[in-house]
Amino acid sequence: MYDSRIEKVLFTKEQIERKCQELGTMLSNIYKGKIPVFLCMLRGALPFYAELIKNITIDMEMEYMYANSYQGTKSTGVLNIKLDIGIDIRDREVLIVDDIIDTGVTMTKIYKELVSRGAASVKICTFLNKPNRAKGITIEPDYYGYDIPVKYVVGFGMDYNNIMRNLPYIGVLRQEIYQKG
Ligand code: IMP
Ligand code: MG
Repeated sequence: MYDSRIEKVLFTKEQIERKCQELGTMLSNIYKGKIPVFLCMLRGALPFYAELIKNITIDMEMEYMYANSYQGTKSTGVLNIKLDIGIDIRDREVLIVDDIIDTGVTMTKIYKELVSRGAASVKICTFLNKPNRAKGITIEPDYYGYDIPVKYVVGFGMDYNNIMRNLPYIGVLRQEIYQKG
């Protein structure tokens, strides 16, 4: 039933769907009376985004961004935007939707970029929260689905060497596989 490369299933398809319902209901209340821009961070956030928006009961706009940060010799790499948002976000309520927050380095840069464009508000929603961050240095998610231990997970958008994103559940990758790569 499950992929042999998975050591342990953390969240089943059913658990994921339930959590997305919960988050969707909560976010619909939070943004009631506004037309927020839900920003899908390609590529990993796509399955979470698709599941989440099914549970949004207010008007909203869907936008996409594909960005990463180049880690040079310094830990403060620059943000590399490969695909930018299609609209002007000045005075808009923006919700960044991503699969997982780990060190938070990339998210902090994206957050600052969106704030600099004059958004009315910028909030962060991730499905998973891997608390792997130095407090006060990088950003925290405003909303998230589950806390997970500091382990490498795949599925529901999350990859290992760019594969396994299509698994409908989230699992911990076997250590042997992780080491081989
Ligand atoms: P951060 O900048 O360290 O917060 O990491 C950001 C990105 O790293 C996430 O958006 C994911 O794409 C990736 N990432 C972090 N942890 C994992 C994991 O356990 N599995 C798969 N991808 C991960
Ligand atoms: Mg990502």
